[in-house]
Amino acid sequence: MDFTLSEEHISVQQAARDFAQNDLFPGVIERDIETRFPAAQVKKMGELGFMGMMVSPEYGGGGMDTLSYVLAMEEIAKVDASAAVVMSVNNSLVCWGLEKYGTEAQKTKYLTPLASGEVIGAFCLSEPEAGSDATSQKTTAEDQGDTYLLNGTKNWITNGNSSSIYLVMAQTHPELKHKGINCLIVEKGWEGFSVGKKEDKMGIRASDTHSLMFSDVKVPKENRIGEDGFGFKFAMGTLNGGRIGIAAQALGIAAGAYELSVKYSKERKAFGKSISEHQAIQFKLADMRTRIEAARLLVYKAARVKDMGHDYVEAAAMAKLYASEVAMWVTTEAVQIHGGYGYVREYHVERMMRDAKITQIYEGTSEIQKMVIAREILK
Ligand code: CAA
Repeated sequence: MDFTLSEEHISVQQAARDFAQNDLFPGVIERDIETRFPAAQVKKMGELGFMGMMVSPEYGGGGMDTLSYVLAMEEIAKVDASAAVVMSVNNSLVCWGLEKYGTEAQKTKYLTPLASGEVIGAFCLSEPEAGSDATSQKTTAEDQGDTYLLNGTKNWITNGNSSSIYLVMAQTHPELKHKGINCLIVEKGWEGFSVGKKEDKMGIRASDTHSLMFSDVKVPKENRIGEDGFGFKFAMGTLNGGRIGIAAQALGIAAGAYELSVKYSKERKAFGKSISEHQAIQFKLADMRTRIEAARLLVYKAARVKDMGHDYVEAAAMAKLYASEVAMWVTTEAVQIHGGYGYVREYHVERMMRDAKITQIYEGTSEIQKMVIAREILK
């Protein structure tokens, strides 16, 4: 498979790198401490075209391929994993799903403002009792003719409060199990819809994660995505691409921590020489770089497979599984290389280690990715 980057790929990568350095790096520690959403930075991401990268220009997007998206995601996640997840959910779970499966009217009304970054979207699948076991949806969408009556609670929703548009999975025909689930587009401010508590998280603390409550929310039937009962297929189909985005986020976190470690190891002296001259550190750097490169190849491969129009379920799951494990391992080693400095906020790597953990959990835990891969092997 050819991973040669085109001139366009390189310029997208450079634009994301510049934006991350100039706009995300200043204040990244403070936003983490204060759990402050990067509102101004996300607005600028929209202006620069990072919020709807793969959406066709007809709907206000960048019309780019998945590889461009992962290149930008990696650069942004190197510096600020919180901003990266805001971008990832909007791009791959909300915009991509709407463009692929939405009606013309839904695209005109909802996709256009989402793709331009004018508003942000959220993907609402997880529930208090339905995380990995996503078919067990308890939220209900009762068919009332022209509308659905939506009732239930969603948990751990990224962009929970900052969003204006929510894609909500809910059960309409419980007897049909996952084949009875629908995906409904819900707008913030509709009667009966409220945003619950903000989660106090270990990492990605500047992204806002909330529970959401729906109490007799009337959703017009034209806001259902796809045929009756298509909601679970919609969620799974969309998550396949989402997993490539999170894999790229994990890759970025690992690469960011690695770059800081190389720099620090050259500057820090111990036993009369820079620590980079000690073999104990050299071996760590060599292992970090090798694993990051392997993760990068899996992420690029998943993006390429998707761009070529082939089935990418397995490639996406493998990229997410491996890149997230690498992110956790590399950031832990980065803290070790930094020693005491690594354990304090000022040196960034402790935040990266906390940020890395979620990549093994959201958009399907590592265990779920293994289930998906095993099913692909054995089917
Ligand atoms: N792609 C396409 N279709 C898929 C699929 C995939 N990756 N995984 C499952 N499906 C389909 C199956 O083919 C099946 O379809 P049919 O009935 O037509 O055959 C249907 O979905 C149900 O699948 P299973 O019978 O395998 O059901 P299961 O309960 O045994 O397993 C699961 C389902 C794979 C575990 C699924 O529940 C799952 O992926 N769970 C993880 C949920 C998840 O990723 N949540 C992320 C939340 S969003 C988030 O995290 C965003 C954020 O904040 C950043």
